[in-house]
Amino acid sequence: SDNIDNIIDRVLFSQDDIEEICQRLGKQLTEDYAGKFPLVIGVLKGAVYFMTDLTRHMNVKMQNDFMDVSSYGDGFESSGKVRLDIDVQADVKNRDVLLVEDIVDTGHTLKFMKDLLTKRGAKSVKCCALLNKTERREDDVVVDYFGSKVENEFVVGYGLDYLNAYRNLPYVGVLKPEVIQANLNR
Ligand code: PRP
Ligand code: MN
Ligand code: MG
Repeated sequence: SDNIDNIIDRVLFSQDDIEEICQRLGKQLTEDYAGKFPLVIGVLKGAVYFMTDLTRHMNVKMQNDFMDVSSYGDGFESSGKVRLDIDVQADVKNRDVLLVEDIVDTGHTLKFMKDLLTKRGAKSVKCCALLNKTERREDDVVVDYFGSKVENEFVVGYGLDYLNAYRNLPYVGVLKPEVIQANLNR
């Protein structure tokens, strides 16, 4: 059937789990950014779902922006090369920037963005990621805030994709191995 839940092996973070994470991180960020007028930058496309839920729990005056950065590889393996596809609209000079990510994996994407925005004169550049796959880290980069660590499994949903699909699942789940296998044999 076309029911997209069928590609999920098991749910890792339910809608309730995610809401709880957003509440907890939002509360922390509300304290840490009080009086700071942060520029909150969601990283397209993975961070879209998390960005909207997280910032609804941040009770501070802020500006929202987006940028699109891709680590290009073969669809599910990061290559280490990062490309800037769509730049942020705002001038980041002297701004307190908060990058919002769905997941930090090798760290290449986050390191690229932190370096770029720091070079442009941002006052601070921090990152809040829903998930932190520490086992896969290749760059020494700090994930300042995160919802949860995750094991080295292929996760999809709530912004996270497989071949640019399944982002709209309202929870995060582990992809069935046979779904990857079917694509490899295609
Ligand atoms: C994914 C994810 C992070 C990045 C993490 O984005 O959303 O931005 O990879 O991987 P890294 O730590 O190994 O760099 P992707 O480039 O796949 O684009 P997307 O957000 O549009 O899916
Ligand atoms: Mn991304
Ligand atoms: Mg992706």
